[in-house]
Amino acid sequence: MDIKIAPSILSADFSAMGEAIKKLELAGADLIHCDVMDGNFVEPITFGGQMIKNIRPLTKLTLDAHLMIEHPKTQIKFFADAGADIITVHYKACAKISPTYLEETLRLIKSYGVKCGAVVNPDVPVENIFPVFPLCDMVLLMSVYPGYGGQKFIPEVLDKVKKARQYAISVGRADMDIEIDGGVTAANAGEIRRAGANVLVAGSAVFGAEDMKTAIDNLKR
Ligand code: DX5
Ligand code: ZN
Repeated sequence: MDIKIAPSILSADFSAMGEAIKKLELAGADLIHCDVMDGNFVEPITFGGQMIKNIRPLTKLTLDAHLMIEHPKTQIKFFADAGADIITVHYKACAKISPTYLEETLRLIKSYGVKCGAVVNPDVPVENIFPVFPLCDMVLLMSVYPGYGGQKFIPEVLDKVKKARQYAISVGRADMDIEIDGGVTAANAGEIRRAGANVLVAGSAVFGAEDMKTAIDNLKR
């Protein structure tokens, strides 16, 4: 599978977001990963649908909205209307509301014609989201605890990536996008890819680099 790089705008300068989007496009990004944080599910607050809406006319790249928020169902409308191409929601935020909330949220996302995905934190078994694999266009395995960029990659997640890819293949979804988020660098991108992930989120590895294009090329290689 082709590897796709999804730079996270969490590491961008928020006062110059438009320029950052243009630079990412020129540097060869495949998706734009938008980290939405609500100050509850995770400590920080970042931005909401308005940011997606403002970015939307600037790029044709896939806008990947990673919702680190409580009660995601109440917010789907705003992100869908804003022009997100894919919306992912956390298993943990959904499971604490009801056993069917994750499935309901994924169906709601799809009802807007938007792609959907489920996210698991490093301490959540990937098996917990196997039941919703048929609904998902992508699954996102966190390789750090969500909330902050620049953390260290948790290598134990590689086993979960393998399990997720094997399960996807076993249910006839070999093409499923498996995304990894947190601590991805050119040094660990190879093993992440060999484990079966094909979408790599990278914040500091792209924005902290001297040259974004070189950084993205190195992650792809
Ligand atoms: C963490 C976010 C990540 C983060 C990745 O809560 O979901 O997308 O921005 O940043 P790096 O690549 O620096 O770990
Ligand atoms: Zn993210």
